[in-house]
Amino acid sequence: MCGIVGYIGHRQADALIIKGLERLEYRGYDSAGIAILSDSLSIWKKKGKVAALREEIANNNTTGMVGIGHTRWATHGEPNDVNAHPHTGGNGRLALVHNGIIENYAVLKNALIAEGHRFESETDTEVLVHLIEEIQDEGDLALEEAVRLALMRVEGAYAIAVVDSRNPSVLVGARKASPLVVGIGEGEYFIGSDASPFLDSTRRVVYLDDNQIATITLEKGLEIKNTENESQPPFIQELDMQIEALEKNGYEHFMLKEIYEQPTTIFDAMRGRISSKENRVTLRGLEEYANRFVRANRIIIVACGTSYHSGLIGEYLIEDLARIPVEVEYASEFRYRNPILNERDIVIALSQSGETADTLAALELAKQKGAMIYGIVNSVGSSIARLTDAGSYIHAGPEIGVASTKAFTGQVTVLTLLALSMAQKLSTVSNTTFQTLVTELESIPEKVKECLKADEHIRYIAKEIKHHHNALYLGRGYNFPVALEGALKLKEISYIHAEGYPAAEMKHGPIALIDETMPVIVTATNQSAYEKIISNVQEVLARKGVVIAVVPKGETAISSMAHHVIEIPATEEQLSPLLSVIPLQLLSYHIAVELGRNVDQPRNLAKSVTVE
Ligand code: F6R
Repeated sequence: MCGIVGYIGHRQADALIIKGLERLEYRGYDSAGIAILSDSLSIWKKKGKVAALREEIANNNTTGMVGIGHTRWATHGEPNDVNAHPHTGGNGRLALVHNGIIENYAVLKNALIAEGHRFESETDTEVLVHLIEEIQDEGDLALEEAVRLALMRVEGAYAIAVVDSRNPSVLVGARKASPLVVGIGEGEYFIGSDASPFLDSTRRVVYLDDNQIATITLEKGLEIKNTENESQPPFIQELDMQIEALEKNGYEHFMLKEIYEQPTTIFDAMRGRISSKENRVTLRGLEEYANRFVRANRIIIVACGTSYHSGLIGEYLIEDLARIPVEVEYASEFRYRNPILNERDIVIALSQSGETADTLAALELAKQKGAMIYGIVNSVGSSIARLTDAGSYIHAGPEIGVASTKAFTGQVTVLTLLALSMAQKLSTVSNTTFQTLVTELESIPEKVKECLKADEHIRYIAKEIKHHHNALYLGRGYNFPVALEGALKLKEISYIHAEGYPAAEMKHGPIALIDETMPVIVTATNQSAYEKIISNVQEVLARKGVVIAVVPKGETAISSMAHHVIEIPATEEQLSPLLSVIPLQLLSYHIAVELGRNVDQPRNLAKSVTVE
């Protein structure tokens, strides 16, 4: 939520910052702003996308080699020009951009008002910049020291970048519970919520830790202290990320590109970790802690949104194959319900961004209670990746479309590997079953390519059903979480109300909704409950529901009854979500396009939810 960019160096800051903000727009896109420091401080802010800000500054003098920028996802105060960042203190000397929430802002604000400060916006951020200004003025302090003292009085989460017209050669950044990374170029430095804003300039980065403050000057370079005023040596890493991953490469939307990348990303999630020839599955993170896994009483998976849905598939996989009890919890619920945990429990966090505030807090709680914590994460170097005892990256590359697609299949792939590896260690599946699943898993990328061939047909179905206001998604067993995921994808990008249900639950309530205006998307790939799904489809048809069935190639019973049929290749039941989710992603994509929605940046959403 919210993207931050900062620059100090020998090039004009404006173009670099605007381009950086465009790359971070997936984090929030309701307003944007930029502050440029040269002889004086100039700030431009605009409601709407970064493109509106770009237009706003086009005819202004934005010369300057130091600056900060922000793209916002509103928390305190509606999206408008005034609430947009950067914010400035009463004397207009400082400019600050912020991602996070200052929880004690009301108390701080009242104290500052008593001191004579006047506020223009409704944001918590403006309070922080006034506080820094107040502290700086009281003691005539350097910017970084005033920032440090102010942050010691702040409760909540923040990643900030600050500039000061009295110290025009300094850029200060700090973080606590919101991500911030410093890019080190040739005679220039960058700050970003992630590395995407500056990847074309440098791949050398330093991820700040919580409570760290970075002071950047061209003379001394990057210096880091914690809020206790102790120096901390920067840990410089070289990123292995391709710039093309941040471009659309000819696709109309990032979401479509990411759907089409799945044969590759699923392959990448397995690369080096699986071999049917050698009859093995090896996850390095798991191997290190194999004893803990083998002795585990219980695995608890914590996640949010789409990642929660892949967690549910993980539950089916691990229980089915490795016979270890699994619970899957919304991270936001888990962290506030005083869960019972001990050192024989393993808590696995699933997260694309690795920054989701609730998932991070759930892990911190689990760690405090002595559980081992494991991360299955996409973003390299993210907060969750760094907090966990061990973990496995999914290697899907940057996911930019706000609706998660390739991260979901990447997570399910890694969970499948984890379940198989555990099953082998615990001898809970026969060698034949293990061999069959490993061989079949290796063929999944090719089968995903097959699924993608239905794209045109799915576009046709999308046109047929786009005018409906509701939709029901049904699935059983491994495909129940797929139904939940299909419904979530439709809701978030087309704004059509949709619900996912275990097919058998339909009779216990939702069936009352079914009539000719209700499309029912049935995923009928499960071998074990196949007969039962046929009955469920008949029940829908008897009430005039419009049935769209996702079935294995060659299926006849449901195909002969359904209004629309989408065929996917046959596979093992345990692996079927990796295929059945593809048509559901494409269906929501095409419906959203047909309805003229902003597919990559749907309203009210942000890619990385770093506030609770
Ligand atoms: C839906 C979506 C969200 C995320 C959720 C968790 O398409 O993207 O529901 O899955 O916000 O995010 P991560 O996986 O980054 O923790």
